[in-house]
This record gives sequence, C-alpha cells and structure tokens, in this order.
Amino acid sequence: MREKIALVTGGTSGIGRKIVEELLEKGCTVITCYSKTEENAKKLQEEIQNDKLFVLKCDVSKEQEVIHMFQTIKEKYGHIDYLVNNAGTFIDNFIKDFDIEDFKKVLDINLLGKVICTKHAYPILKEGGSIVNIASHLGVVPCEESPAYCAAAAGIINFTKATALEYADKKIRVNAISPAFTPTPLSLRGWKKEEIEEKLRETPLGRFCEPMDTAKLCIFLLSEEASFITGENIWLNGGRF
Ligand SMILES: NC(=O)c1ccc[n+]([C@@H]2O[C@H](COP(=O)([O-])OP(=O)(O)OC[C@H]3O[C@@H](n4cnc5c(N)ncnc54)[C@H](OP(=O)(O)O)[C@@H]3O)[C@@H](O)[C@H]2O)c1
Repeated sequence: MREKIALVTGGTSGIGRKIVEELLEKGCTVITCYSKTEENAKKLQEEIQNDKLFVLKCDVSKEQEVIHMFQTIKEKYGHIDYLVNNAGTFIDNFIKDFDIEDFKKVLDINLLGKVICTKHAYPILKEGGSIVNIASHLGVVPCEESPAYCAAAAGIINFTKATALEYADKKIRVNAISPAFTPTPLSLRGWKKEEIEEKLRETPLGRFCEPMDTAKLCIFLLSEEASFITGENIWLNGGRF
C-alpha cells in the first residue's frame, strides 16, 4: 500500500480517524475532510505529524464543495487509489416526532454525501482502485428511534452493490462495512447509558466494536488481499444479530 493515495471522508474523529491512522501506518498518502470541527482537524494534524497527511474542509453533502475538493486533490496528486466514504452524523427521534428537515439532514450527509463523493471520485479513481462505504448495523436491523439513520444506512448497503456493478468497468471494487455500536463522539452523544449497557449485554463476544475493528477490515477490503471481493456488506457485530 506504500505508493497508494487514499481519501477518507470524516477522518478527524472516531472510526474515520482510526482508518486514517492505519492507512498512514501502511505508508499510504491520506487525504481527509471534515465539515465543521476545526479543533479536531488541528488535533489530528498536531498528533499525527506526518507529511503524507492532507486535511481539507469539505461538507460531503454539498456537491459544489465536493467538486472543489476533487479538483484540489487532482491538482495536488493527480489521482486516488482508494475512497473511504465514512463521514456521517446521527439524529434520532421517533418518526411521529421527527422534524423532516432533520430527517433530510441525515439522508443528505449519511447517504447522499457518500453518493456525491462516489460520483465525483470516479474520474480520478485509478483503474483497479477500491471504495469502502461505512454503513451501519442499523442498516441491517431496524431501531425504532433512529428511522433516518436506519434508512440512510440501508440505502448505502444497496447503493454499494449497485455501484460495484457499474464501477467494475474500471475494475474498481466497492464494498460496505456495517459496524455495530462503536464508542465514538457520534454514538456516545446519541445513546443513553442504559441503552449502551444493554447493547453490551446483548453482544455474545462481550465487548463493543472498536474503531480499530472497522479500520482493520477497511484496510483488508481496500487491499489486493480482497481482490475478488466486491458488492459485499460485511457486518461487524460480535455475534449480535
Ligand atoms: N459510532 C458508531 O456506533 C457507528 C456504528 C456504525 C456506523 N457508524 C458510521 O461510522 C461513520 C463514522 O462515525 P463515527 O462514530 O466515527 O462519528 P464521529 O466520531 O462523530 O466522526 C464523524 C466524522 O465525520 C465528519 N463529518 C460529519 N459530517 C460531515 C459532513 N457533512 N462532511 C464532511 N465530514 C463530516 C466529522 O467532522 P465534522 O464534525 O468536523 O464535520 C468527523 O470527522 C459514520 O458514517 C457513522 O454512521 C458509526
């Protein structure tokens, strides 16, 4: 992976940050973006101190910003080998009470953000490249208080399969990972303490999914080791169905 160039969206926190760290560890050049939290972007750069890391501000739900990001990447690097569509947010509520603008926001970031990046990455994704979409456990099983997040994650899983068919024309593989609850700022903000404890009790392997679990699987799926795997969604759930 030493000469490869990767774009990881939302790499300034949680799961995305771990993926950024692992790719840098493997010798990749890594570009990442975030939409608002400058403090995390600065922290990432200060703590990593690696000239193969390039951090950009880009809201993945805004197509013009994404087009501009890919122009910048093209001018600086010429192409990318890998795209990890990770950026996401979480707003929960019962559908009866859901503010439709909030519902749209979740779909715009978690689903359309991945769609927009996938579309505009295509011209600069090298033949034989690879895309990993971070979906969610909640894209496979329903959760009554997270209808928007569930809908977006389920959408990503079949979008992954459809894109795998289309992007095979450039031998680009497209896969999804659906992690279970992972302690990160997103999930710790979204779930109550009792709900988190219940998830742990219900997990046969007796621990939470960690950002590193997703990062390691992501590296595998991006790499040549996974050269015949495309259109898959891999569920990281510790045995909790
Ligand atoms: N944590 C879990 O339990 C869990 C489980 C399954 C799947 N996932 C998925 O894993 C992914 C990462 O989640 P996480 O838990 O690591 O969350 P996190 O710690 O909150 O990190 C989210 C990252 O995405 C960025 N981001 C958010 N909105 C963005 C936007 N519109 N444009 C660009 N960047 C944006 C954030 O930066 P800014 O805030 O600066 O924008 C941050 O870098 C998400 O897709 C989430 O759905 C999480």
